[in-house]
Amino acid sequence: MIGPEVIVCAGGGGVGKTTASAALALALARSGKRALIVSIDPARRLADAMGVTLDGRARSVTLDTPGGKLYGLMPDPRRSMRTFVEILFEQEPQALARLLDNRIYQVLEDAVPGIHELVAMTLTARAIAEHCIDVVVIDTAPSRFAVDFVGYPDRLAKLLGGRAVGWLAQLAQRGQGRHDDSGAPKATRIERLLAWVLGPVVGDAAALFAEMALVLDSFVALNQQTSQLLLGAATKYLIVAAPTAAAQADAHYLIAQLATLQISTTAILLNSALSPSRDFVDLLDKATETTAPMRDVLRSLDYEWQSRALAVATIADGFSGRHPELPQLRLPFVEQAEPQEIVETLARVLATELCRFVAD
Ligand SMILES: Nc1ncnc2c1ncn2[C@@H]1O[C@H](COP(=O)(O)OP(=O)(O)OP(=O)(O)O)[C@@H](O)[C@H]1O
Ligand SMILES: [Mg+2]
Repeated sequence: MIGPEVIVCAGGGGVGKTTASAALALALARSGKRALIVSIDPARRLADAMGVTLDGRARSVTLDTPGGKLYGLMPDPRRSMRTFVEILFEQEPQALARLLDNRIYQVLEDAVPGIHELVAMTLTARAIAEHCIDVVVIDTAPSRFAVDFVGYPDRLAKLLGGRAVGWLAQLAQRGQGRHDDSGAPKATRIERLLAWVLGPVVGDAAALFAEMALVLDSFVALNQQTSQLLLGAATKYLIVAAPTAAAQADAHYLIAQLATLQISTTAILLNSALSPSRDFVDLLDKATETTAPMRDVLRSLDYEWQSRALAVATIADGFSGRHPELPQLRLPFVEQAEPQEIVETLARVLATELCRFVAD
């Protein structure tokens, strides 16, 4: 089966990743695609930006998308670990019940780095199959490490190929057919001795690994699925930036970080980079009956307009100088207050540029 096209939007904090991702997904749906927008940003602003309710199940978004279809998915990071084990242990309900009771698991449930992204990608893979998705847009977290998650599958694969796996597999084999009264894999003498010396939590740790070994194959499969989505031939990386020095530095950093993962950036989306029309300023400028306060306001509007234009030119030149091979796409600064209005406006701009991101 040929998978869907995947577009990952990354960039520094507050540059408009969520807004631009939502707009791109909306424009793709309006062009006739079955599009899915996924947010792995823990701030969970995607729902606000689109004016819809979203959660860990891909939902149809009821924005006007004639010909196409738009789905949204925004898993809750606080539920990630639970969702993760529920997926892993789908075929092992008794082991799942034991795991949820395990004290070590209960501690892990609060914080395991990387699990949220892995879960989000697994839910994405399921939504792709369930809704016959043609194109996925992924809105990432606001950090310089936003693309770190791309490397997780590789790192996990290394871990799985290493000694840890051998140990887990041995535990699993040993556990087969040797269960105690509760159905849990039976502990060895060493484990019982450790438990006696160090307390019962050691037993919980051994039991946790043994349970995990039962689902090693599912874990490897999840990891491969994530790898395919993020590192597949049809995956594109867009760097979103705003006309500020900080956003530019973040963008350079992310492009370099992607390069270390052997991923080339597809394009730079320079957001808030086209100033609103200054027609009304020009009109007022020409008016004969202006007052001093009006002229002050006009001067400051004019100053703001020029500073913005200069900032955009400087940042755009900076990108061209350092990455002449990378296409730049400018998105306007939208003065409407409502986030949905901004998404709608950017979607209209992006509608004419879609061939840069996806095949027809
Ligand atoms: N082109 C634009 N014109 C005007 N306002 C914009 C534009 N793009 C984004 N915004 C506004 O800027 C704010 C930040 O945008 P957004 O949440 O999309 O950024 P982000 O990069 O996802 O942020 P974070 O790093 O916190 O995830 C929002 O209030 C959004 O409505
Ligand atoms: Mg965001």
